[in-house]
Amino acid sequence: MSSNSAVTAIRGRFLDIQNIVSQAAQITEQVRYIEDGLLITEQGKITWFGSWEQGKNNLDDTIQVDHYPEQLIVPGFIDTHIHFPQTEMVGAYGEQLLEWLNTYTFPTEMQFQDKNYADQIAKFFVNELLKNGTTTALVFCTVHPQSVDALFEAAEQHQMRLIAGKVMMDRHAPEQLTDTAESAYNDSKALIEKWHGKGRNLYAITPRFAPTSTPEQLERAGQLKAEYPDVYVHTHLSENKNEIAWVKDLFPEQKSYLDVYHHYGLTGERSVFAHCVHLEDAEWQCMHDTDSAIAFCPTSNLFLGSGLFPLKKTWEQQVKVGLGTDIGAGTAFCQLQTLNEAYKVQQLQGDKLSAFESLYHATIGGAKALHLDDKLGNFNIGKEADFVVLNLKATALQALRQQRARNIEDALFALFTMGDDRNIQATYIFGRKVYEQETNEKTA
Ligand code: GUN
Ligand code: ZN
Repeated sequence: MSSNSAVTAIRGRFLDIQNIVSQAAQITEQVRYIEDGLLITEQGKITWFGSWEQGKNNLDDTIQVDHYPEQLIVPGFIDTHIHFPQTEMVGAYGEQLLEWLNTYTFPTEMQFQDKNYADQIAKFFVNELLKNGTTTALVFCTVHPQSVDALFEAAEQHQMRLIAGKVMMDRHAPEQLTDTAESAYNDSKALIEKWHGKGRNLYAITPRFAPTSTPEQLERAGQLKAEYPDVYVHTHLSENKNEIAWVKDLFPEQKSYLDVYHHYGLTGERSVFAHCVHLEDAEWQCMHDTDSAIAFCPTSNLFLGSGLFPLKKTWEQQVKVGLGTDIGAGTAFCQLQTLNEAYKVQQLQGDKLSAFESLYHATIGGAKALHLDDKLGNFNIGKEADFVVLNLKATALQALRQQRARNIEDALFALFTMGDDRNIQATYIFGRKVYEQETNEKTA
């Protein structure tokens, strides 16, 4: 671990995307690759970034330089949709969404009534994020307010920027897991007052999905959003065909699934909707008009058999999108594995996902989806210093492949196709090294 000193200096190979773009074809122009670079951070923020030659004179002798000559340093990965209480239930067999929720998910989430249990899993969860190079996430907790306390307390240990919230759910779930319109409002309000903007923590109003909230509860969620416009809204949308049909039955007066959320004031620039696999044209338009964001969750959409998300449409319709692991319906914490599946999901639709576009979605694009691109997502001066050191040759097979990489884009694509947590050599949060892999297989 690095010392607690306020200044950190990192030397190595850096790669990031400098700016938000409006079309995928523009990403290449924004790629910034510095083969021998230097990054200086002070009090958690980036104060200098450029080539080692130009920057080395800014360092005085007392500053220790962490040097990674072989590795690749990229901005920390951003996970725009994940459930921390589902950490222990990855790989639950055989069901699609609605049966999977009843059979596996609800019984698992009941355990989080116990604060000690929630603390234990929250610590494991945060460590797992760091081990996988994820430095910011938008997280579902459970219906229990103490599950939110557990998560923010664990994140604070590392000064990690997390967005999270208590699930609101007052119907179609076991009694132990339901609140009421009134108690959900009161509990969420108390949690906003306690956590939102404390350190790097941010709060998300979190109705699970339209089927598990009464109209009264959605109304209360909208009231909260109106009272606290700078908190987030985080929910699920249009993941599974049976789910969509159920929403149409439950809310016959609304034009579409998204229209339910829109009607209650839950769309907007800080609203993130997980999945959006089967959106209708009018819903795409509403996502665009309200500047709402999508969390694309490829491993989950494949695992639950939900469908193929049309990533290309986000560019066509100008809708913000980030990557989500959606643990525990998703099957990996690692954004490298998530990108591997994202590529295949596009292949099955006849589309290409380039390595630089993948990097974009995992970093600055995810930051934009979370309305945090002024703070996160690349190495621009003034941004918060969250980044990952990647070992491109974590296995013998990877080393063989990397030796044949034609250029940085090809090397990155091979990493995104073959990579996992073995490739995460170190993770830095707010300028401090918070994770370093112990047994790094030396194969090169
Ligand atoms: N829809 C409502 N709840 C959930 C959940 O926990 N996971 C997923 N993937 N979809 C949901
Ligand atoms: Zn989910």
